[in-house]
Amino acid sequence: MDQYFESYEELDIHQLMLNDKTRVLAYKTAIFNSKEKFQNKVVMDIGAGSGILSIFCAQIGAKKVYAVEASMLANSIEQVSIENNVQDKVKVIHNKVEDISPDSLEKVDIIVSEWMGFYLVHEGMLDSVLFARDNLLHEDGLLFPSIAKLYASPCQLPSMYDFWNNVCGVSMRCIGKEYRKTKSLKPEILLVNQDDILTEGKLLAWLDLECISVEEIDLLGGQNYVSVCKKDGKFQGMCIWFAVEFPDGSELSTGPHDKTTHWKQTAVVLPEDMEVTRNEPIAFKFELKKDASHPRRYNMELSLLDAEEVEHDIPCDCHMTKCIVTKKYIDDLK
Ligand SMILES: C[S@@+](CC[C@H](N)C(=O)[O-])C[C@H]1O[C@@H](n2cnc3c(N)ncnc32)[C@H](O)[C@@H]1O
Ligand SMILES: [Zn+2]
Repeated sequence: MDQYFESYEELDIHQLMLNDKTRVLAYKTAIFNSKEKFQNKVVMDIGAGSGILSIFCAQIGAKKVYAVEASMLANSIEQVSIENNVQDKVKVIHNKVEDISPDSLEKVDIIVSEWMGFYLVHEGMLDSVLFARDNLLHEDGLLFPSIAKLYASPCQLPSMYDFWNNVCGVSMRCIGKEYRKTKSLKPEILLVNQDDILTEGKLLAWLDLECISVEEIDLLGGQNYVSVCKKDGKFQGMCIWFAVEFPDGSELSTGPHDKTTHWKQTAVVLPEDMEVTRNEPIAFKFELKKDASHPRRYNMELSLLDAEEVEHDIPCDCHMTKCIVTKKYIDDLK
């Protein structure tokens, strides 16, 4: 068995996910809001884990729910179904979804899956959901969630900077510098305080899960972006978060302004910080690229650019003359 699936045999991980009420209740709300969509339908829960989402679907009126789980936890799902008196509806498939032969079962009406990893795509489980969409879902079938969005915003990271400036009256800036050098090599999972977010979130990727291809998720972002500071501060890193939308229009969002989830936020730490002022533009290129030799991993690359040389949004709130003039021109047209 793949090491990835073995890691999902740790019940601590499932307790952590099930205890993330924002996550579980977002799915429950989306499913329970869509009662008529689930009524008498055949559903597939991809990566059913403990079975929680399968149970919700059965409770709301699905005719049959295939609970597909590759790890040994699959063995518990039937028992959970019995405890909740939905054993007639929930059929456990202890297998990787990619190994289900499309001829072995009827096409399903709805795919439900909680596939999101840190910074949305870590773990690469979206590939499996797209495989199931293409092979096991009816042409006009539904996906829960149906849209995924990835955001980035320049931010302050006091735990990476201020902390080392004064440890009970002792300055340790030199150690802080070394600390940040290591931390800037790989993304850091942490909670970013909303007051430390310097700009509006920039949308790096908007994925329509009903039609996006697996190849299209090999590279996310990759463009030049300009974010405008909403306040004075220190640009110390890039905060990344995601949101998903369900067919009923409800959303599960994991940003610094949202309720905390076990995904927290992801930060790319800058080794050196930069003072920034309100209305200053921060130009950057940011991309997440699937690692060719480890498809469950993505490599992130952040490059800081010269704001004078990059195209700004129209209109743009920054303090550069061309943006002030354009904004005034647009405002005058209104
Ligand atoms: C993030 S957990 C979600 C578990 C559960 N649905 C929940 O919401 O609590 C993802 C689960 O998907 C399973 N999984 C990942 N990829 C899979 C695949 N290709 N086929 C079957 N199961 C998979 C993992 O073993 C893990 O239990
Ligand atoms: Zn501008």
